[in-house]
Amino acid sequence: MKNSITVRSKIGTFDKTISISGDKSLSIRWALLASIAIGKSRAFNLLDSDDVKSTLKILKKLGVNIIKNNKFCEINGRGLNGFKFKKNLTLDAGNSGTLARLISGLLIRSPHHIKLKGDKSLSRRDFSRVIEPLNKFGVNFFPKNRSRLPINLKGTDFVTPINYNEYRGSAQCKSLVMLAALLSPGITKIKAKKSRDHTEILFNKLNIPIKIRKEKNYDFIEVESSNINAFNYNIPGDISSCAFFIVLTLLSKNSRLIIKNINVNPTRTGIIKILNKMGAKINFLNKRTYMGEKTADIKVSSSNNLKGINCPTSLNSSAIDEFLIIFLVAAKAKGVSTFKNLSELNQKESPRLKIGSEILKKIGIKTIVKNHSIKIFGNPSLNLKSKYKIKNFYKDHRIFMMSVIAGLVFGGEWIIHDKDSINSSFPNFLKKINEIKK
Ligand code: S3P
Repeated sequence: MKNSITVRSKIGTFDKTISISGDKSLSIRWALLASIAIGKSRAFNLLDSDDVKSTLKILKKLGVNIIKNNKFCEINGRGLNGFKFKKNLTLDAGNSGTLARLISGLLIRSPHHIKLKGDKSLSRRDFSRVIEPLNKFGVNFFPKNRSRLPINLKGTDFVTPINYNEYRGSAQCKSLVMLAALLSPGITKIKAKKSRDHTEILFNKLNIPIKIRKEKNYDFIEVESSNINAFNYNIPGDISSCAFFIVLTLLSKNSRLIIKNINVNPTRTGIIKILNKMGAKINFLNKRTYMGEKTADIKVSSSNNLKGINCPTSLNSSAIDEFLIIFLVAAKAKGVSTFKNLSELNQKESPRLKIGSEILKKIGIKTIVKNHSIKIFGNPSLNLKSKYKIKNFYKDHRIFMMSVIAGLVFGGEWIIHDKDSINSSFPNFLKKINEIKK
């Protein structure tokens, strides 16, 4: 099947209400926690993407019973220490950094060697951030000095709780240590630079003994091991997928979009804060709280008054998955935009700071990348006529989706390869674009 698409014309005016598939972070966390809970848990609106499929596949290999149909996914949890660790187990996390890192926290008691692997993109990403805290719990990794997948690990019966300093602002690192803490006697203490707090919220809802003291830049977390009861979850829409449609609307003419039931946890809404600072008017309607998480409908209208931003680095973590699409807004805004301290952006499915800047250069936007920072010189009259070919070496789903949006709002002819990359986070992406175009 053809694995590229061509975008030939700008999108016209639209006024639509849509919904977006379930949040990826919450889908993976629900599945992992349900697998170690006692009893049957059900998720509704679980994201049906490759990253979540890989999660369920790994859990099945660990002996977990899972039923999935059109209405729900049901996991029959095996309790805290219930995984079946067979000999010579190989677990494949596919493209998912979240899965590879979080599942590692639940493997710390494996009596046998487990081989953990991922696809080409995941195998270039840093794994020392997993090895380092898990070593402290007593887990051994082979070979010793490897910092990438594939890797072998062997757990221990003598796990000891740890004190851990999470200094990167990585929710994956924080969460994997919190999961490992569930399997360790005693109290695990974490000092964590601010990052998305879905795991903390879930632990609270599940009555896991957890203490959190929040300071300006860091949270101090203490977790104690505890059994978990099965729980159902109706997963809200993913703001990181929503982001592409927010920017599509913002940069189109006289258009309006409402996106229903999105997770708007403040640790995820950096994109809204950044775009509103740039002159957008994005509002939350029908604000609610569900399972401790804030949700809302998001309303966005076109704007032809966007200005550059000197982006506060305090927003980096809450917008980390959205910078590529924010860069497109900066390209069309009046004035220069600066985004600093983005070293973590090069740790994603592809080196996004580098590739994002290359795409902007391709379309005639001046950028300067220096010391993990980028300056983007906006051009409000950007209107493309040429041909652009995007072949995305690491098959990064967000590079594909960013390129489609660029073609739809800036014009030109875009041939964009690696369409199947969207399966990792947002298989319905092109369907949703067509729904808006109709
Ligand atoms: C995620 C955390 C972030 C994010 C990723 C999902 C999570 O990664 O980029 O898409 O679900 O915990 P880091 O923890 O590496 O920042």
